[in-house]
Amino acid sequence: MIEELEKIPNSLVMRDGLEFKYFGSGTWKKSSSGKTLSVKNPYNGEIVGTVQACSTEEANQVILTANDSVECWNEKTQRERADVLMKAAKLMRDWANPLGYIMMKEIGKPLKSAISEILRTAEFFEATAEAGLQQEGEAIYGDTFKGFSRDKMSITYRVPLGVILCIGPFNYPFNLTGSKIAPALMAGNTVVVKPPSQGAISPLFFGLILEKAGVPPGVFNIITGKGSEIGDYLVQHPLINMISFTGSSETGKHLASVAGMKPLLLELGGKDAAIVLNDADLELTTKAIVSGAFSYSGQRCTAVKRVLPMPGIADDLIKLVKEKTLNLSIGNPEENATIGPLISSIQCDFVQGLIDDALEKGATLLCGNKREGNIMWPTLLDNVTTEMRIAWEEPFGPVLPFIRTKNIQEAIEISNKSEYGLQGMIFTENIDLAFHIAQELEVGIVQINGRSERGPDHFPFLGTKSSGLGTQGIKYSIEAMSRPKGMVLNLSDKGKLIKLCK
Ligand code: G3H
Repeated sequence: MIEELEKIPNSLVMRDGLEFKYFGSGTWKKSSSGKTLSVKNPYNGEIVGTVQACSTEEANQVILTANDSVECWNEKTQRERADVLMKAAKLMRDWANPLGYIMMKEIGKPLKSAISEILRTAEFFEATAEAGLQQEGEAIYGDTFKGFSRDKMSITYRVPLGVILCIGPFNYPFNLTGSKIAPALMAGNTVVVKPPSQGAISPLFFGLILEKAGVPPGVFNIITGKGSEIGDYLVQHPLINMISFTGSSETGKHLASVAGMKPLLLELGGKDAAIVLNDADLELTTKAIVSGAFSYSGQRCTAVKRVLPMPGIADDLIKLVKEKTLNLSIGNPEENATIGPLISSIQCDFVQGLIDDALEKGATLLCGNKREGNIMWPTLLDNVTTEMRIAWEEPFGPVLPFIRTKNIQEAIEISNKSEYGLQGMIFTENIDLAFHIAQELEVGIVQINGRSERGPDHFPFLGTKSSGLGTQGIKYSIEAMSRPKGMVLNLSDKGKLIKLCK
């Protein structure tokens, strides 16, 4: 681990050995609490490093600095802010391998995927810089409404909101933190990041990257600590002007209940269902379902979490999905096994509880239901009914239920009965029918003949019901993190030209 850290120039400034500091007001510091939190490798339990357990007073200091820095950052030109994001992207590309390695260690993501996550974030920063440069205001005449003329004109442009609190999840600790930071900075805001406790180390590198890229002290800050100790304090702080959060629906709902009138962008859980029609391309569908359900061991909000096949295709589909699932590699993330450890033993216990409940209620086990340490074998369950918890609850682990449905109507009903509404999928060659079904699904996005997923990152990404609030995606996030500022011009008759035409 130390060897990988040494590949990142100047990284010594942010740590003492494997004890990482937090970054506030442009400096790396240890918490005066004297306490640290251990980040353990979920694959083998080794301590990857420790991070500071900051106090509410330290959180307050960081927010005050971020607030004092809004004016200075907002005075920069769009071009200057875009240049900073571009430089940051370049550093991410240069350091992608060691950063990916560190992330692999702390969250058990396959090494190749961890490195891709860093590169995806670099691309996100570049695209955000480009989109920010395209931002435009608007001028509107008043004469749409009776009694008003073109002598009244509204002129709007966008201004930052102030200090944005960015809270990222463990499963994409770098990318889903970066996808909040980039639009926030591009829109002229300052930023306070609270990383997840598990997965806290890799996002700390944003401090180093952004400082080197030219972000002035105080504009970007990252504070670590227990969510239970500083989470509500950060969310409720009066100088936090907006919160962008990715995590569980439970935490998101709590956050919304304590945040008061702050604008929120929430990306929460899902129970994405794949409706498979009788004419679906079996090979394409199988590939999408298996990779959608099991990449990063199912620990994605957009994972395929239910399959609803029609009677004419169910047997063939299930056979092929089983064959492909049995071929998935299982084991060490450093060796790029598709199925690796879940983030904690508590999470494994939860997933096991869902499997046990389904089996007790009569589901058929097709494969899996085996555990070693935090690794759970990919598990397929057939003949799942709506009485079973796995039909409704989000496992965030490698288990996929097949709920055989009588017809399209029943599949739509089961899909919509979920408390979640992130994405839906329809597999068919009949595109007209797919569009009609898509219109019925109560979700943010419907994928036709593809697995549920967030990217590419300039697409809108949103969930309905318990799956979220607001819309992400590059231009949408910039909009969510800024507001229109308007001026109304009221021209007088002074100097009015005489019109020839009456
Ligand atoms: O876990 C939630 C992420 O937004 C999923 O992103 O679809 O790119 O894996 P992804």
